[in-house]
Amino acid sequence: MQTVLITGAASGIGRETARLFASAGWQCVLVDHNEPALQQVAHSLPAPASAPHVLRSIDLTDAGQIASLADGTPALDAIVNNAGISDASNIPIAEQSPQQMGRLLALNLAAPAAVVDACGAQLKPGARIVNVASGAGLHAIPWRGAYSPSKAGLIAQTLALAKAHPQWCVTVLCPGFVRTELVDALIHAGRLKPEGALAKIPLGRMAQPQEMAQALYFLASPGAAPLSGQALPVNGGSSVYGGSQALPPPSVGVQPLDLPLQLEICGGDAAPWAAVAQAPAEGAHYAARLDLSPLHAPAGGLLQAVHAAAVEFAARYPQQASLTLLLPSAQHGRWQSAGDGAAARMLIATLACEWGSRGLRINALEVAAAMAPQELHALLRYTCGSAAQFLTGQTLVCRSPAQAGSP
Ligand code: NAI
Repeated sequence: MQTVLITGAASGIGRETARLFASAGWQCVLVDHNEPALQQVAHSLPAPASAPHVLRSIDLTDAGQIASLADGTPALDAIVNNAGISDASNIPIAEQSPQQMGRLLALNLAAPAAVVDACGAQLKPGARIVNVASGAGLHAIPWRGAYSPSKAGLIAQTLALAKAHPQWCVTVLCPGFVRTELVDALIHAGRLKPEGALAKIPLGRMAQPQEMAQALYFLASPGAAPLSGQALPVNGGSSVYGGSQALPPPSVGVQPLDLPLQLEICGGDAAPWAAVAQAPAEGAHYAARLDLSPLHAPAGGLLQAVHAAAVEFAARYPQQASLTLLLPSAQHGRWQSAGDGAAARMLIATLACEWGSRGLRINALEVAAAMAPQELHALLRYTCGSAAQFLTGQTLVCRSPAQAGSP
């Protein structure tokens, strides 16, 4: 049995994450300051086979209470630092006192580090630590107090933790808009206009909390090792869109997140990648293509290889499917070729924006030549599959655990 500690487990993303881990047989240590809601969540979870779930009702803005977290906490395979608050006060940041910002910074930025400090001795070798930041940590959101700064700080803190402790797999999830109580409260307070937000999301919708749970479940698994020291933006493509015009609304719905993956592999030797595909898909399935051809692109030809792969994919899949490309890791060659990789990555982002309303996704993994295909199987299973339906437009840099934390 594996054990995970999840903060902010009484509501929204944390509650769905606890449900997913518990239904997969994990023991959960559920942490929140809302004890009645925490009890309710705990009672709704399937019980683990041996030890029961553990409930810890604590205020994560209080360093003393966090320090007590280790008492009674079992050995941990993973920590998910999810608890966070936004600022719906509408008070301009220059008019806020340090005290007004203090609680948000304590929870969003100081608490994740304090939880790791408190539970470090409980973490098993090879444990995974996943922090939940936000797209707001990548782009400033005004009139939300210190929310964006707190999340930018958490992203940087995650990368530093990965470097300082290469024995753990440390990642940070940057969700886009997710329809939870937090977002409902912002809409209710007039701090978020849904129509304006949706028009800037290539996939044209907000995520379901279950989609973030799937991302966190993957990041808390050993298969996330190639992403250690990195951020995973799961935001419907909003972080790659420049916002020049309102994007069209979606013409398709969301498919179930647990559909079997029907994976077509092209552009190279499929054998080392065949294990990525799950059961042969009879009946309902999620269609995906893994194209290896950019890996073998001639010097100066990466953009053309990505474009050719996209043309073929779009001709074959009209809607609701994913294309994942393997790209060679950035080369340090002649300066004249230095733009090739960036151009290819921006082409991927542009395609994500143009395809999103049809539920067509595109992502890439940038892989070092020395990486063994098996190191990438679990990551590919996640990015190609239906669980990652809110992930598009991203190029993820993959490293072997030995390289984790290197710049
Ligand atoms: P939520 O408001 O639904 O849940 C947050 C949970 O944290 C609640 O159970 C709450 O009781 C708990 N919590 C709040 N203050 C606490 C404290 N002082 N001590 C202990 N527990 C405390 O929020 P949601 O939407 O599920 O967000 C979870 C995380 O995801 C947050 O870190 C948030 O910033 C982040 N996020 C959410 C997005 C969204 O669109 N919902 C987008 C991007 C990031």
